[in-house]
Amino acid sequence: MADRIPLIAGNWKMHLDHLQAIAVVQKLAWTLQDARHSYKADGAEVAVFPPFTDLRSVQTLIAGDRLELRFGAQDLSEHDAGAYTGEVSGAFLKALECRYVLVGHSERRQYHGESDAVCAAKVAAALRHGLVPVLCVGETAEDLEAHGAAAVPVAQLRAVLETLSAGSSGAAPELVVAYEPVWAIGSGQAATSEQAQAVCAALRIAIREMLGDEAADATRILYGGSVKSGNIAGFLREADIDGALVGGASLDPVEFAAIARFQKHVGV
Ligand code: 13P
Repeated sequence: MADRIPLIAGNWKMHLDHLQAIAVVQKLAWTLQDARHSYKADGAEVAVFPPFTDLRSVQTLIAGDRLELRFGAQDLSEHDAGAYTGEVSGAFLKALECRYVLVGHSERRQYHGESDAVCAAKVAAALRHGLVPVLCVGETAEDLEAHGAAAVPVAQLRAVLETLSAGSSGAAPELVVAYEPVWAIGSGQAATSEQAQAVCAALRIAIREMLGDEAADATRILYGGSVKSGNIAGFLREADIDGALVGGASLDPVEFAAIARFQKHVGV
């Protein structure tokens, strides 16, 4: 298996203002520091995805205190600059030292009508600005019933990869894929690790077919949907699951640190 650094990512969604963000990031860093030896030894990355208005405060704290945390934004504009009221450019996120940006979260697809074409344009924008896109894919309960688990997430991934492979030369860009079955998000009903592994394996096959072996072996694929400290271990044991995208449980720094710390138990 390739050396993929596990990524435990916390998507705060529309929770926590910038003052609350500072308190949560401080507590997260302290809690992780207790277990720093273990989580750093395994080289796991821990990242938070706060609302836009928190990013500057989070950046200042992480840079100022040299915390071993990464951060990213929850969305970006497909455009670089211009008359796009309310939008945020990838250039601005890069200037704030964001490493990651979520693209195509199911809540963006559902409530903001983001199509695969829009997601592809946003992935391209992220890459233009040196951000690592975390492309979210996943099936609804209706999709699951009609097509099985893998068909829709694989089609969503292919729609974006097609635009990347077309005309690109040289090494494939760094990308993270997050498999989040919509029915598992915020429901308390996570997929089983076997279900998640089956879809993540299918996603990796699609990457292999479209971008080649190197990209398939290097790309991290996360599972998201009702992840907690009580179920993370099972997901991390699976061959094609390289971490988690955590929603609700990432708002509690002690619980999120407990999820991140599970790295040390993997393979022990
Ligand atoms: P929950 O962990 O709250 O189910 O949310 C998952 C999610 O949507 C993360 O992006």
